[in-house]
Amino acid sequence: MDNRPIGFFDSGLGGLTAVPYLMERFPHERIIYFGDTARTPYGSKAVGTIRQFSLEIADFLASQGVKMIVIACNTVTATCLELLREKHPQIPVLGIIQPAAKKVAQVCGAENRIGIIGTKATIENGAYETNILSLNPALTLYSKACPLFVPLIEEGFTQDDITALTVRHYLEDFIKSNQLDTLVLGCTHYPLIRHQIQALYPDLRIIDPSREITEEIGGYLTERQMLAGDRKAQHVFYASDLSENFLNMINTIFRHTQYRVAFKSFELG
Ligand code: DGL
Repeated sequence: MDNRPIGFFDSGLGGLTAVPYLMERFPHERIIYFGDTARTPYGSKAVGTIRQFSLEIADFLASQGVKMIVIACNTVTATCLELLREKHPQIPVLGIIQPAAKKVAQVCGAENRIGIIGTKATIENGAYETNILSLNPALTLYSKACPLFVPLIEEGFTQDDITALTVRHYLEDFIKSNQLDTLVLGCTHYPLIRHQIQALYPDLRIIDPSREITEEIGGYLTERQMLAGDRKAQHVFYASDLSENFLNMINTIFRHTQYRVAFKSFELG
């Protein structure tokens, strides 16, 4: 048994989409979340900048005594997973792309046409293709960067017409001309506009990496007898800017759980 918290982080509020699945499945686990809301978005920044920010956050989570670091960000997983593992060899570091790639390989076959959407950094890096094709080289993959989604979501535009327009702008031709039947939401912000995507493309099968990571975390902790004991967990949500939208989002998603919100800042660049 190991009652230390699990550290989650993302460039902003996107990684919050992975947390409820874990809380529901493993209710005794305590979460320390860090959202870098002051420096989001990461996906359009240079890889060197993303690395610097990610190292700072991983050091911070390590200083909080976490038993595991979960990179609830596709951009950071694509660009920094190995680096963070090297820098923190004593803490298991899990990325969000590998469990999603497993899911794709499990449920898709050569007959499917699979789209991957994500930030510029994730798509340019090709981490999804590498991971999926290593499991099944026969799969057909297409990918597209959608850089406007994250700023819209961070600003709280999840229900608005402008977001539906942006979804169309990025996805209409991508889905139709490639005849896609499956779409991987390769950014943890995107589940917050999943309803908009699904409303426009109801036949599309959507794979959500924020959901898939829970089993990976649970499997790892169970195998090593590192699950937390039977007790009430108090979670902490840190942000580098306590933006109204971040606070609202936490309040909406976690209103039935015990948590506190805290501020933690880093240098801006
Ligand atoms: N939510 C993040 C991801 O999964 C990053 C978004 C961003 O900051 O660009 O890629």
